[in-house]
Amino acid sequence: MSNKIQTLSGYIHEYAKSVQDPEHFWSRIADSFHWQKRWDSVVEWNFKGPDVKWFTNAKLNITENIFERHLYTLGDKPAIIWEPNNPDEDVRTITYKELYAQVCQFSNVLKAKGVSKGDRVIIYMPMVPEAAVAMLACARIGAVHSVVFAGFSATSLADRINDCKAKMVLTSDGNFRGSKKIAVKEVVDEAIERTESIEKVIVLRRTGQDVNMKSGRDIWWHEAVEGVSTENKAEIVDSEDMLFILYTSGSTGKPKGVVHTCGGYMVYTTYTFQNVFQYSQGDVYWCTADVGWITGHSYIVYGPLLAGATTLMFEGVPTYPDAGRFWAICDKHKVNQFYTAPTAIRALQAYGTEPIEPYKLDSLRVIGTVGEPINEEAWHWYHDHIGKGKCPIVDTWWQTETGGIMISPIAGVTPTKPSYATLPLPGIQLAILDNDGKELTGNSVEGNLCVKFPWPSMLRTTYGDHERCRQTYFSSFKGYYFTGDGVKRDEDGYYRILGRVDDVINVSGHRMGTAEVENAINEHPKVIESAVVGYPHDIKGQGIYAYVICDMEGRSEANLIEEIRQTVTKIIGPIAKPDKIQIVPGLPKTRSGKIMRRILRKIATGETANMGDTSTLLNPEVVEEIIEGAQ
Ligand code: PRX
Repeated sequence: MSNKIQTLSGYIHEYAKSVQDPEHFWSRIADSFHWQKRWDSVVEWNFKGPDVKWFTNAKLNITENIFERHLYTLGDKPAIIWEPNNPDEDVRTITYKELYAQVCQFSNVLKAKGVSKGDRVIIYMPMVPEAAVAMLACARIGAVHSVVFAGFSATSLADRINDCKAKMVLTSDGNFRGSKKIAVKEVVDEAIERTESIEKVIVLRRTGQDVNMKSGRDIWWHEAVEGVSTENKAEIVDSEDMLFILYTSGSTGKPKGVVHTCGGYMVYTTYTFQNVFQYSQGDVYWCTADVGWITGHSYIVYGPLLAGATTLMFEGVPTYPDAGRFWAICDKHKVNQFYTAPTAIRALQAYGTEPIEPYKLDSLRVIGTVGEPINEEAWHWYHDHIGKGKCPIVDTWWQTETGGIMISPIAGVTPTKPSYATLPLPGIQLAILDNDGKELTGNSVEGNLCVKFPWPSMLRTTYGDHERCRQTYFSSFKGYYFTGDGVKRDEDGYYRILGRVDDVINVSGHRMGTAEVENAINEHPKVIESAVVGYPHDIKGQGIYAYVICDMEGRSEANLIEEIRQTVTKIIGPIAKPDKIQIVPGLPKTRSGKIMRRILRKIATGETANMGDTSTLLNPEVVEEIIEGAQ
């Protein structure tokens, strides 16, 4: 814990050191880990390739840094506290020693079932401790996990399996979510029909619902582990070997597999976890994300466990059995650090303060947010009613690609400002660029958020397509990593994220490409063309507005709209279902045939008074017609 920053001057000092001599700075942090072989150089990089390597030629296993490094001192301490969906079901508390045994045992299972170093394993599971066991067992044997959020459709799952040519799927029979029981194995079966690489499926029994088990391919988890040794020697891997692939949406149609590697990711997630949340031994930390997203990877599993923390894992939803569930859990487990998304805060805010009243919330010391900009109203509500005016809010800005938190207050150290992610963490060299690629220096500037120096947990490539990685992140502004976000640096040098500047929308903290949703809509046989934009939504942050040209013959508009919604659910998953669908006679296009999204965004937002210049359109008359039919 010696790397913990405790004062503002300490932060300023550390930040300055991290910029003046990054190699010395990061090697000092990395020294507190257990390496089988030390690195030859701290960082080698260029952003042209891009080609980034941290702790070159160092050898390690990330799970040795969770277990072997901690067992002597923390063996009997809870590693995971699991709170089930149904509050009447038993809580599970798993100590470091117990988790170690489970991970070793499952590592042996994976090996026995044919998984070896470098193989890809898909994890499509509910929020149960076995999901963490699955991830860590892959890491222990040097296999590459790719967790797919269990709300994604069979098509999305199949696409991901095919893209990384996974050998195995780890899943469950079903999933409890609030009052619902959701089929999971069934989705896996459907997905595998469209793939060729899967050899085995291991199925955890969770809901007890009926499932088909394909003989020779499918194995029950409890049968697979029976009698298997709980000892396993970790595979020693290179610092730059792949740890995991996580698929995320971009502005093009197909999600890309963001690749993270072992050494740098380990160092950075631990460092940021310890500092941002100011975790102290004995605290209970809770992040409400799902392990299917990067937040779950870095700040439910890896960061906290590498730091020897107690991480709470929650299976359910914030409103089941009632809208006080989060607060009930905070009191029940005496949570000290609580980390959630603005969309959850806004959704709970809508229930008023009554659901909070039965709870004390007096164990909370730090409260955090992630995933989307937090509006000032939600910030104040969170601060006053949950933090009771005494907990610093850490508004953490980062991305799947950054692996860890980049801009955030350090709890209790950095003075906060509503809706501001505040200042970059040590090691993070930000730059704001105008659209011509000129860096805007000084304060009171606004532009494209970029990073000009590598950090240990940055993405290394996009799986199977390095050129796509270069194109997406390193080509807009030469020599910089481009985040896709707009940002403002105010008069105090504080950063406020303004949202995406590309064709990515952020719905309830979930990233979606407009093209991805359009592709799904276009799968409906009656759809001729579509255009999707985001619009401000009170709870979700952004909602999805789809303009669709359809062949209406023999169909009612209401039916067609419902069918289109179902098509999107089927192809991507319920999270991508458009909030509004408007059937339109045409889409505004430029003479070169490009859809003018600027106009569609204005209509979706209701800003129709000033449409700007529409004279360059091929079909200006369509704009009026769309405005008339707008919702
Ligand atoms: O637009 C930013 C927004 O979420 C995007 C990254 O999404 P994803 O890769 O799914 O990761 C989410 C969890 C790390 C960013 O490009 N975003 C994330 N955190 C914030 C945010 N926008 C504003 N404030 C934040 N704190």
